[in-house]
Amino acid sequence: MSAGPMNASAPGGAKTAFVTRSTDQTIALGRRLGELLEPGDVLVLTGDLGAGKTQLTKGIALGMGVTDDVCSPTFTIGMVYEGARMPLYHYDLYRLDDPSQLDDTGIFDVLGDDGPCVIEWGEQFIDQLGDERLDVVLSRLDDEAAPGEEPAREVAFYPHGARPEQIAAQMGM
Ligand SMILES: Nc1ncnc2c1ncn2[C@@H]1O[C@H](COP(=O)(O)OP(=O)(O)OP(=O)(O)O)[C@@H](O)[C@H]1O
Ligand SMILES: [Mg+2]
Repeated sequence: MSAGPMNASAPGGAKTAFVTRSTDQTIALGRRLGELLEPGDVLVLTGDLGAGKTQLTKGIALGMGVTDDVCSPTFTIGMVYEGARMPLYHYDLYRLDDPSQLDDTGIFDVLGDDGPCVIEWGEQFIDQLGDERLDVVLSRLDDEAAPGEEPAREVAFYPHGARPEQIAAQMGM
């Protein structure tokens, strides 16, 4: 997590971004985030295949005191993990292509419920996921990597709403 937070204005809210230079740094960032989360928080993780969405979620789970191993729920669509204070709901909507399919996933039962909800590949259904959410955009910084080297990742937070803004502000401190 070098370089600390960078703030720049972006559509829909101020951006708070970090650069992580290894999987462990992404997990460490997620861990800090997980410690801040409260019931009902909604996080939409966006980024290409392999960008690090699940690794960040592993960190979030650690920060919440989840002891089970977190993996990508690509085939199950949704998973629930027991944290120390509350459950973590983890969704991966990659295999869905129509909003009508969301009903069967149970996601509407857990959004705003007794734990935070972390959603990979949720941007395609953003209209269904609510106005109050923390968008997290992960990108590979390919241009800065030496040939053959694994690129660092930018992890950028775009809050929508008062509670997500509070989370982003706390991450930036
Ligand atoms: N700085 C980094 N941050 C996160 N992951 C990294 C980093 N550097 C290398 N990696 C590797 O990149 C991969 C990221 O995989 P991950 O499953 O988290 O991606 P994902 O965004 O969830 O992909 P998918 O869309 O397939 O679910 C892992 O193998 C991880 O070890
Ligand atoms: Mg994943």
